Amino acid sequence: MVDITVRDEDVTGYAGPALVVAVPAGEASLNEAAREVDERLDGLISTLRAAGELNGKRGETTILHTMGKLAAERVIVVGAGDPETLTVAGLRRMAAVAARTARKAALSSYATTVYRREDLPAATDAQLLVEGTLLGLYRFDGYRQSDIEDVREVVVLPRALDRAEVEEGVRRGREIAAGVALARDLINEPPNVLTPTELARRAQAMAAEHGMSCEVFDRERMRELGMGAILGVAEGSDEPPAFIVLRHGTPRDGAPVPCLVGKGITFDSGGISIKPAENMHQMKGDMGGAAAVLGAMRALAGLGVDGAVAALVPTTENLLGGRAQTPGDIVRAMNGVTIEIINTDAEGRLILADALSYAVREGYAPLVDVATLTGAASVALGPVYTAVFANDDGTATSVLDASKAAGEKMWRMPLDEAFEDLIKSDVADIKNTGGRAGGSITAAMFLQHFVGETPWAHLDIAPTSWSDKDEGERAKGGSGVAVRTLVALVEAMAANQAVSN
Ligand code: BES
Ligand code: MN
Ligand code: ZN
Repeated sequence: MVDITVRDEDVTGYAGPALVVAVPAGEASLNEAAREVDERLDGLISTLRAAGELNGKRGETTILHTMGKLAAERVIVVGAGDPETLTVAGLRRMAAVAARTARKAALSSYATTVYRREDLPAATDAQLLVEGTLLGLYRFDGYRQSDIEDVREVVVLPRALDRAEVEEGVRRGREIAAGVALARDLINEPPNVLTPTELARRAQAMAAEHGMSCEVFDRERMRELGMGAILGVAEGSDEPPAFIVLRHGTPRDGAPVPCLVGKGITFDSGGISIKPAENMHQMKGDMGGAAAVLGAMRALAGLGVDGAVAALVPTTENLLGGRAQTPGDIVRAMNGVTIEIINTDAEGRLILADALSYAVREGYAPLVDVATLTGAASVALGPVYTAVFANDDGTATSVLDASKAAGEKMWRMPLDEAFEDLIKSDVADIKNTGGRAGGSITAAMFLQHFVGETPWAHLDIAPTSWSDKDEGERAKGGSGVAVRTLVALVEAMAANQAVSN
């Protein structure tokens, strides 16, 4: 990843390819950094603003050459828009856009001022700046032969701000961005490389590097535990499945340990109920939930979160070999519930059934699962919102609050007894599909059979886990969505526990 360093230099003193300053839209006055630059450039920014040629629209950039009037060769002006409507997401996006502009101009390094929303602590502004910068510059190019020139170093200038605060924000931004980048990498890896075995290996390597414990159950162990649902899905593939258990931190006396659960289908062909060929390659991303959970654990460890947290990743391919599960099969999940398979493409809920059962048996609480579970969630919420389901209002509120703080859009959907009829089976306790209507809800209702009374939230990230274009801090391919929300959620829970102890 790009190097981010903090340096006590002034905007007039920084000598390098470019300096980034923010300029608001309309009549709003320039911040101090922009004003200094404007003065040095003999009022160029003011002139361009007055002429309407530099309108400060949020997320638009303008490159100005300094012609020797500043030590920096260029100034990249990034529009901040109307200061009244500037959100944390907006600050992050501005940083991403500035970084991409520098890349496009083939600059290998640049310096940036910390643009602010004055009501936020400087550390938060710096964190958003670094998150946006690193995520905006993210790309997945391990398989390209051409070596692309890229931004290598970004210098953050705290100027009048408290340097220690800025350093702290930079550190947090770096850890969080590293978690999101890990998730994106895992999603973008091709399925011939990222098999369940390889996913487990990477989880182990990450855990070792960050001082977490990591256990991997093989097929034998899963059989002993009675995990018939994930084993049924795994039957269609020659690649062995795995069940990954990560633990971070020491549990406080009596306090329950929260548990993150991520769907890890490394490729979803649909199985015998095979999917259409169009866009099937995107189903390499069907481990987006697993990626989010692993990315969040990495970030939490890097941030040194004070409190215990566990993560579970059931992982397998969903293919159609000669022993593949077929419609009509009945499997038994770890908690004893029997499931009639109606459609082998509804495999995510099957592997989660065993993982949630295991989490309940271990006494973890609350449980938060993350899964690219249903196309129906995208039909309901477009490519914008993650669907949230919860059996407990407190857990739902915690998740939604965390998502707001993290700048990831999420929307609560209902769990309701009235849908239960749709997943009743004639021959087993339940069946694995509930028809087209309310498809994301019946999937969540299915999962509810495996959580008992444990407080639980389910995040259906099928709408948001994959980006079709580069935009703001999002890059084409795996989005790494939910990492930031999970980090905020676990941090908030750890802080609450510390207070109540
Ligand atoms: N992995 C898919 C859901 C998905 C679809 C995620 C598109 C991301 C983009 C899941 O396993 C699936 O196939 N779900 C089916 C369920 C149906 C068979 C009840 C679906 O959504 O069509
Ligand atoms: Mn499927
Ligand atoms: Zn799937």
